[in-house]
Amino acid sequence: YGTQTVTSEGHLAIGGVDTVELAKEYGTPAFIYDIALFRERARGFVETFKKENVKAQVAYASKAFSAVAIYQVAQQEGLSVDVVSGGELFTALKAGFPTEKIHFHGNNKSVEELTYALDSKIGCIVIDNFYEIELLKQLTRERQQKMAVLIRVTPGVEAHTHDFITTGQADSKFGFDLSNGQADEAFKALYEDEYLQLKGMHCHIGSQIFETEAFSLAAKKVVDKMAEWKQQYAFEATVLNLGGGFGIRYTAEDAPLEPAVYVDDMIKAVKKEAEAFGIELPEIWIEPGRSLVGDAGTTLYTVGSHKTVPDVREYIAVDGGMSDNIRPALYEAKYEGAIANNMNAALTTNYTVAGKLCESGDKIIEDIKLPEVQTGDILATFCTGAYGYSMASNYNRVGRPAVVFVENGNHQLAVKRESYEDMAQLDIELKW
Ligand code: LLP
Repeated sequence: YGTQTVTSEGHLAIGGVDTVELAKEYGTPAFIYDIALFRERARGFVETFKKENVKAQVAYASKAFSAVAIYQVAQQEGLSVDVVSGGELFTALKAGFPTEKIHFHGNNKSVEELTYALDSKIGCIVIDNFYEIELLKQLTRERQQKMAVLIRVTPGVEAHTHDFITTGQADSKFGFDLSNGQADEAFKALYEDEYLQLKGMHCHIGSQIFETEAFSLAAKKVVDKMAEWKQQYAFEATVLNLGGGFGIRYTAEDAPLEPAVYVDDMIKAVKKEAEAFGIELPEIWIEPGRSLVGDAGTTLYTVGSHKTVPDVREYIAVDGGMSDNIRPALYEAKYEGAIANNMNAALTTNYTVAGKLCESGDKIIEDIKLPEVQTGDILATFCTGAYGYSMASNYNRVGRPAVVFVENGNHQLAVKRESYEDMAQLDIELKW
């Protein structure tokens, strides 16, 4: 993946830095982010739009990994960001992210969060439901403040990995249904509002998708609706946000496409539909999360105990687990790994990699071939950059790992390891 290489001593290096040294300096478990790879992915998206001469915003969906330093890299690459909570908004602002390039998502934004977004004069709020329309109308009227908004619609296309389905009425907690009049109702409530400035529509059809056709179909459905609104209400949508969801390669079973391919197909579909209906080509916005940070992240663990279940399996246990990567337990997600301090040895033995948390399902990899593993070896698991740290927990009061950025031979801490004291600092002693 990315800038990974093997040193002359047979150690895994990322960004020109020996991971065995990183493990020594920062401890384990640690998330190592290959920042050059993040930049490459970001540029892949941005440049494809440029090449096609299409106005666009590429927004990093920061739910995949939210921390001050990653917002700063996103800013350096000229990206926008998508936040889904007051906490992510706070972190982006703390990073000095340009407020006008922040988009706010969510199906139950609170009054406090919306007020915070208005106070911060962010670029756009993606409206999810009728309650939010009323709330935002009230808040913007009281404050006499304008705010750009998009309507989030469910286009009746749902995709995950290699499959997608089209449904008449999508059963989703997110957005206004495109097919049953709800999206039209939302539109009517918004398009002439004095303070809410409707720019267009948003849809997101799923995550870890390998199918360009699903995006094209969703784009077509949404552009058709834009054309309808233009005809009936003379409303000219200027923004079409097609969400995120571009798949990445976790294991050899996954065969994702290049970012450019997804984007190219999307652009074609939007252009074709816009031309057919004679509407202006809207700006196209996308919101990749996983495909920007997923394969940039590698987790380093130290191997501790071993257990043999005779004739069944050989367990090795690492110093982290479902507290830093819930995805195997939650989605049966698969990962690949390697012994970072022994990259050239023959892969001789099958192992199950377990975590240290009190739960039988706390396994990181069910079945992996590695060299003979010793206690103290450093196990690297790949592609852990998205929805790993961001879904980490303190189960068993295990502290969250350190996060380290590497690039061009440099390394720096991006998030400190959580200490016992950090975890206990919100606790209050018994008063009686
Ligand atoms: N935009 C919206 C509105 C979304 O809901 C999401 C993801 C994204 C963009 C970014 O999608 P991505 O490019 O990262 O696929 N925890 C799950 C993934 C949940 C995705 C939620 N929404 C996992 O670990 O696979």
